Amino acid sequence: MISHRPRRNRKSQVIRDLVQENTVTVNDLIFPLFLIEGKNKKSEVKSMPGIFKWTNDLLLKEIEQCMKLGIKTFALFPNINDKLKDKLATESWNKKGLYLQSIREIKKKFPEAVIMTDVAMDPYSSDGHDGIVKNGEIVNDETLEVLARMAIAQAECGADIIGPSDMMDGRVGYLRDALDDAGFSKVSIMSYTAKYASAFYGPFRDALDSAPKFGDKKTYQMNPANSREALIEAELDTMEGADFLMVKPALSYLDIIKLLNDNFNLPIAAYNVSGEYAMVKAAAAKGWIDGQKIMNETLLSMKRAGATVILTYFAKEFALQK
Ligand code: PBG
Repeated sequence: MISHRPRRNRKSQVIRDLVQENTVTVNDLIFPLFLIEGKNKKSEVKSMPGIFKWTNDLLLKEIEQCMKLGIKTFALFPNINDKLKDKLATESWNKKGLYLQSIREIKKKFPEAVIMTDVAMDPYSSDGHDGIVKNGEIVNDETLEVLARMAIAQAECGADIIGPSDMMDGRVGYLRDALDDAGFSKVSIMSYTAKYASAFYGPFRDALDSAPKFGDKKTYQMNPANSREALIEAELDTMEGADFLMVKPALSYLDIIKLLNDNFNLPIAAYNVSGEYAMVKAAAAKGWIDGQKIMNETLLSMKRAGATVILTYFAKEFALQK
């Protein structure tokens, strides 16, 4: 006699729904959006079918559509003109620049939308690195000053959450202090806590022309071989005052999501990055997989691993389905 029959809990859709442990909803999602200069233009990112770079006027319309679908949090990334890039990423705090102006307009038009900004030098840096480059090295402490200037400028424009994606040491505490001193104690920090030196960022760097001009990012982003190191980063970010801990990429790092969720009480965010999106789209376009089912299954796997929040290029597609 078989005494245990787990299949009883799978015998009908109603029972399966009843015992389902995890669900993804639009409330969990953050939609990354790309911004370009100009008017009335959108251009599709070649390696990310269905994802566009928008001029601000069209971006506002896109956000309006997304809000109607229930997506209310957006992570904004700028594609900066090469001519405006320099060693110190000065364009990142230019109030009249593309990025800051757009944030201001979005918050004016949609005060209830939550805007997450990216704090890192690479989109504005002539070196294509996340920090200041001196004699071929990425210098940590001087970079913090630039990051703080950038973060305060973003907060002044109404950013709700700042997302330091640079992986410099001590930046969460430094930014927390800088924001508080400037009167922005209500601005949240979603730290890119365990950000790995990953090949999965390729399509994103193509979209923003932000690939490093020399070398790689291995002296600041983490080694994909390591998990204990993620605990060190998470402990520091927690002590330094982060409000969310992010793991990036997501799919090859579900164990890290679980590790942080098991050991820390802050909400964990997973960044379902550009390369993960591109792989699903490419295989689906060939008819090799069912893109929609894979989208749902992979997003669910991130929740199951322990992510409370998911940043994903699938956000709109997810909201539109059924
Ligand atoms: C840069 C940054 C990157 C991403 C988000 N912020 C790329 C990088 O570190 O080179 C990648 C996002 C994606 O691939 O979707 N600070």
